[in-house]
Amino acid sequence: MTDTRDICTSPSTPRRRFLIGSALTGAAPLIARSEPVAAAEPADTSDLRKPTSVDIHVNGRPFHLELDTRLTLLDALREEIGLTGAKKGCDHGQCGACTVLIDGRRELSCLTLAVSAQGRDVVTIEGLDGGGGDLHPMKQAFIDHDAFQCGYCTPGQILSAVSCVREGHAGSPEEIREYMSGNICRCAAYPNIVAAISQASEQMGE
Ligand code: FES
Ligand code: FES
Repeated sequence: MTDTRDICTSPSTPRRRFLIGSALTGAAPLIARSEPVAAAEPADTSDLRKPTSVDIHVNGRPFHLELDTRLTLLDALREEIGLTGAKKGCDHGQCGACTVLIDGRRELSCLTLAVSAQGRDVVTIEGLDGGGGDLHPMKQAFIDHDAFQCGYCTPGQILSAVSCVREGHAGSPEEIREYMSGNICRCAAYPNIVAAISQASEQMGE
């Protein structure tokens, strides 16, 4: 019977022959050396940086802007036009502080490229009024119900609330809460906001 120690140590076993051969001839590289990989050419983004002409109506006024195509509508409003009512909360579409109306519908301006607003009507909190110099009923309702504390979320809340009423989602407190769930208030003024929207919904008659 073969002694297992002979199998492990005998030069006749293939593994042992390989090791001995390697020791005599110099260790053969076990891993093939790969050729150096040429560095990838950086993508040419110069076209993106070229200013593009954009015509936007904001709060009823025409603006002709030369913008970087990557600029968001939020940054265009705040940095190029000087309207700072739309707030930058998260800048990632998660808090609603940047809400504006575009062609009458609420949109998150931090997720909207300014160039995509070409030829469209944008309304910010500064442009929302009740006509004839009056406060818009939604603004008045927020004051009546003390629906803000620090006020940072309030412009977005009010513009979302206007859409909530116009789109027919203010029929009950539950419906209002559901529709307004994308607008976060760190001060937790939610019950007051719902009460304000209910009041304004009757006054807006929509
Ligand atoms: S800043 Fe746009 S959703 Fe938060
Ligand atoms: S009032 Fe402060 S975040 Fe809403």
